[in-house]
Amino acid sequence: MCGIVGYNGNLDAKEILLKGLEKLEYRGYDSAGIAIRNKEGVTVFKEKGRIKDLRNVVDGEIKGNIGIGHTRWATHGVPNKINAHPHQSATKRFTIVHNGVIENYHLLKKQYLNNIPMQSETDTEVIVQLVEQFSKEGLSTIEAFRKTLSLLHGSYAIALLDEEDGDTIYVAKNKSPLLVGVGDGCNVVASDAMAMLQVTNQFIEIHDGEVVLVQKEKIEISTLDGQKIERKPYTVELDASDIEKGTYPHYMLKEMDEQPGVVRKIIQEYSNEAGELSIDEAIFAALRGADRIYIIAAGTSYHAGLVGKEYFEKLAGIPVEVHISSEIGYNMPLLSEKPLFIFISQSGETADSRQVLVKVKELGHPALTITNVAGSTLSREADYTLLLHAGPEIAVASTKAYVAQLAVLAIVAYVAGEGSDVDLKKELAIVANAIQTMVDSKDEMQKIALEYLNNVRNAFFIGRNMDYYVSLEGALKLKEISYIQAEGFAGGELKHGTIALIEEETPVFALVTQEAVALNIRGNVKEVVARGANACVISMEGLNEEDDRFVIPKVHTLLTPLVSVVPLQLISYYAALERGCDVDKPRNLAKSVTVE
Ligand code: G6P
Repeated sequence: MCGIVGYNGNLDAKEILLKGLEKLEYRGYDSAGIAIRNKEGVTVFKEKGRIKDLRNVVDGEIKGNIGIGHTRWATHGVPNKINAHPHQSATKRFTIVHNGVIENYHLLKKQYLNNIPMQSETDTEVIVQLVEQFSKEGLSTIEAFRKTLSLLHGSYAIALLDEEDGDTIYVAKNKSPLLVGVGDGCNVVASDAMAMLQVTNQFIEIHDGEVVLVQKEKIEISTLDGQKIERKPYTVELDASDIEKGTYPHYMLKEMDEQPGVVRKIIQEYSNEAGELSIDEAIFAALRGADRIYIIAAGTSYHAGLVGKEYFEKLAGIPVEVHISSEIGYNMPLLSEKPLFIFISQSGETADSRQVLVKVKELGHPALTITNVAGSTLSREADYTLLLHAGPEIAVASTKAYVAQLAVLAIVAYVAGEGSDVDLKKELAIVANAIQTMVDSKDEMQKIALEYLNNVRNAFFIGRNMDYYVSLEGALKLKEISYIQAEGFAGGELKHGTIALIEEETPVFALVTQEAVALNIRGNVKEVVARGANACVISMEGLNEEDDRFVIPKVHTLLTPLVSVVPLQLISYYAALERGCDVDKPRNLAKSVTVE
């Protein structure tokens, strides 16, 4: 999962490409590069590391009105300068950037490129060498491009430059996200609209199997076999300031702070004119028509799905299974008679989830996507979409999107359940205030991080019921950004093996927000303390005891995850800061994982 950009217009491309790539760094940040075309030809600059490292090697004097760029998250070949994109063909006539994975690149290399010495270890280089090969055999660039695309198996978003054609960026897409932007005196290409909001907010969706010629004055979309397609642009309703950090040192801190506002916005977005919580009627009907819901998600979204199961079962009486998307796709369980699939994905682009959606559609079952990104792949390809309205989430570690997922899931389950006796709207408003109290307790969270996580090797998070699901998320946050080995456990399960790891001073974070199991989890705390653990109990008002380290405000039992996750997010943040980690861009991770 990498990010690509392209610019073709009146202005100097270099700065636009670099700025665009900075906005795409969440998609990968182990190396980056740009190619600029001017009268002298195409010049490539690339470097290992971040966009700021790339800036150091880009010739400040170079000018050119057409260019492409790439920020990489390595799949084939280690992150280094040679494997960084753009890649060029043997004669350097063609230059390419690519996001995705070409599964048959070995085969293609063997079959068509035996005599061509490869420069890099990447699958991408095969594409650009094939285009050159076919053009040498007499095909025009567009014909060579189409022929190459027809041979590729896998996923791709591609932008290609031909040194002999100063007017065009050749673009194509299959499975990987890609948009074309319509600007004033320019047209652009980007993996995500955010990258090109600097020049336009008018974008055209590109569908799988389409080829696009992006020229300064004109955008021409066609199918792989050459049939022309007309598609109107849509307006991306994002404000450029939404994607700036402002005075915050990190996006993650800003995004955690936004959480009370996100919950309030969701209440508003999902209220009808009469002020009651409501969802689209077709989605309501799909939920009522289902005899079982299958929630499919990855990472943090999977953790939200686990909480979602409780909501649907308790508020709507619909049985639910929750599956990790990378597991279920290749091992479908026996399905019920009338299943409804719900895909939860912040980005709406996760390839693991998408491959499941493709199978679900083949089987003819209905699918609903809950996502933060309107127009994302999972949203477009499902029958129904519900938006999170959380605003762009830039930090790799998901925070506000998780809270938004929980709020939306609660509302959907509540509406589907009709007669529930919970006043959810009122309870969510109480939650928003409680989250505010939590984000206002940053100093205390910083102290806790120092007290419990200074110089530790590992940490455990325990809870029961709802608190167990939040423990999983708390552990994920901590390991993602601080690299402390962290595990979340059901409190009762710890003693069945993992308690062997508890040593003197091992930090154990225990959540106590569920009345029905409060005594049991307190028993588990005693077990670990008896073995030397440094236990940090975070309880909810009403269930608190004297030695608890922090008490969160009282909220409805079902909604505690929206609040109890916040101290865990903040503690992780401060632990990572203390260790000097790159909070917003942790090593080896990417925000949008578009490879399986
Ligand atoms: C990546 C991100 C995680 C995220 C997961 C699922 O691994 O680093 O933060 O939870 O993908 O992403 P999605 O966009 O589908 O929610």
